[in-house]
Amino acid sequence: MTRQVAAISAPPVLAHTFPGTAAQAAVARHWVQAAAARMAGPDAADLAELAVSELFTNALRHSRSGRPGGTITVIITCGPDGVTVHVHDQGAAGGVVPRPRDAGDEAESGRGLLIVQELSAAWGTRPGAECSDADAGRPAAGSGRCAWFACPPGNREGGRRT
Ligand SMILES: Nc1ncnc2c1ncn2[C@@H]1O[C@H](COP(=O)(O)OP(=O)(O)O)[C@@H](O)[C@H]1O
Ligand SMILES: [Mg+2]
Ligand SMILES: [Zn+2]
Repeated sequence: MTRQVAAISAPPVLAHTFPGTAAQAAVARHWVQAAAARMAGPDAADLAELAVSELFTNALRHSRSGRPGGTITVIITCGPDGVTVHVHDQGAAGGVVPRPRDAGDEAESGRGLLIVQELSAAWGTRPGAECSDADAGRPAAGSGRCAWFACPPGNREGGRRT
């Protein structure tokens, strides 16, 4: 269910809780793309789509969200500096914390957070309870971990960003 927290034409906060399955990664990607496009334009939307894909996959792979019945809550906030996308998972067993890995050139995995870092203006992770935007996604977003990134608004009018 999508919760629209403030009902104006470009809502500043949207939240949606997805089942924690691989099939939902594409659904979440499209949801974020569409929301970010409306909030901050096509440049931000393209970046957000790529980056959220990495964070959603991480939540599936590395947290309890990927277990049967698990969920992942995605929150998008909009401000003058563009959009911020949060991926709230259900926490990792053993308290593992997301950390970019020093992936070798030949590695096919271990680059997700490096990609997020590269695409975004800023990013980070924190306990879900410490996220000031978690309210938008409650009750699912209040625990576990929040991994977030910010995308500045673009100035593209047609054509792709170079
Ligand atoms: N949501 C998460 N919860 C706990 N640990 C995470 C999470 N996301 C990432 N990590 C940790 O950070 C590491 C780096 O993530 P990433 O750069 O995406 O590489 P990969 O997912 O291929 O291992 C992961 O191997 C994992 O140990
Ligand atoms: Mg990853
Ligand atoms: Zn958050």
